[in-house]
Amino acid sequence: MPENIKKVKNGLFLSIEGPDGAGKTTQAMLLKTRLENCGIEVLLTREPGGTPVGEGIRKILLNPEYAEMTVACEILLYSAARAQLVRQSINPSLKMGRVVISDRYLDSNIVYQGFGGGERPEIIEKINLWATEGLLPEITFLLDLDVENGLKRLQERDKNGKWQGDRVEQKELDFHRRVRRGYLALAANHPERFIVIEAEGSTAAIHERIWQKTESLLRKKNLL
Ligand code: TYD
Repeated sequence: MPENIKKVKNGLFLSIEGPDGAGKTTQAMLLKTRLENCGIEVLLTREPGGTPVGEGIRKILLNPEYAEMTVACEILLYSAARAQLVRQSINPSLKMGRVVISDRYLDSNIVYQGFGGGERPEIIEKINLWATEGLLPEITFLLDLDVENGLKRLQERDKNGKWQGDRVEQKELDFHRRVRRGYLALAANHPERFIVIEAEGSTAAIHERIWQKTESLLRKKNLL
């Protein structure tokens, strides 16, 4: 980390979204490192989780033993973890002038529990806007990927070949197709916030797309 730490006035909040296996976590880490090399402080956080309370909620949410969990329960647990994350980590970091990168945020709730799980997206949006005090990312990078390819990538990642997936990943293929369609619908409805990136390309090429946009946002804020 260079000695001169640069602060962004009011911070900059970015989220990375996409179906399981799209490579969000890798991209979030690459972006964090590149920003830090420019002397910018970064908070990288993941959902569900990111705080001790949130990590506890994450264990319940992803436990395959709770197959009976209802969609209503999921919505409230995910947004409870998010409420904690916003107050305990994201808002304080933005106030300190950091760039916050969230590996998933409220769009995951709208898409997985709404388009995937069948609850009304408008209700989920309302619950989440209350839970997050209306905090939305300035930019959401959507890594878009063919559903079969995404799940194949997850299986390949598992070295002993016995991939079973967590509770969400085990859901049927059609669920994951609805998730992808949901993401694309959200992106079409919010073009001012979403940047859709084809996630079949190389890790380096995807990173460059994300970097171009982030760099131009930071230039506008006179930081780079
Ligand atoms: P995780 O292991 O973090 O998956 P990934 O690496 O793909 O992000 O598990 C998160 C899972 O939870 C993922 O399948 C998406 C799902 N999810 C929801 O269903 N609703 C939500 O609000 C969030 C944040 C995640």
